[in-house]
Amino acid sequence: MVYNVGVLISGSGSNLNAIIRSGINVKFVVSNNHNAGGLCIAKKANIPVYSWESLSKLESEVSKLILKYNTDLLILAGFMRLLSSNFIQSMPKLSIINIHPSLLPAFKGANAIEQALKYGVKYTGVTIHYVDEGMDSGLIIDQATIKIEESETIISLQKRLQKIEHKLYPSTIKRIIDSRK
Ligand code: GAR
Repeated sequence: MVYNVGVLISGSGSNLNAIIRSGINVKFVVSNNHNAGGLCIAKKANIPVYSWESLSKLESEVSKLILKYNTDLLILAGFMRLLSSNFIQSMPKLSIINIHPSLLPAFKGANAIEQALKYGVKYTGVTIHYVDEGMDSGLIIDQATIKIEESETIISLQKRLQKIEHKLYPSTIKRIIDSRK
């Protein structure tokens, strides 16, 4: 059985790039931001791209794309909008996955890296979780931890975390796909 995924992005798409390069079958990419860099990455890989700024329009179109492309999982890769309860409830359980740059349940929401640095935690990391109706509150699938260095800046920490994300996200998605085959 071939597992297909759709990916939602808002920004540069470095995680999308890692997912595509890992060989996962990405059937469509949708953004809420017409200028998201990740749209170019998808186009170069010949993956159909779509963008809608309105969340309700985006959700109703994504529902149609899931049927059209017969996708099994919806992957959020730097998608910075909160999906509505109606949309989440309309999807099969455990079919939407997100990656977040903190050790959830700490530092939910936007600017997680900045929040962790400001708080002064000594360790932070990356969390991959199923999406439920809350903000970064769904069932945790996997996490990875790193120690924050003395001289750490938002930029350096983001770089280190993204390096982890680019390995952990594709391998976790593949593990989920394999376990469902
Ligand atoms: C990633 O680091 C991801 O963890 C984060 O956005 C970045 C997107 O980068 N997601 C969140 O903060 C979600 N709350 P990318 O567009 O280069 O993949």
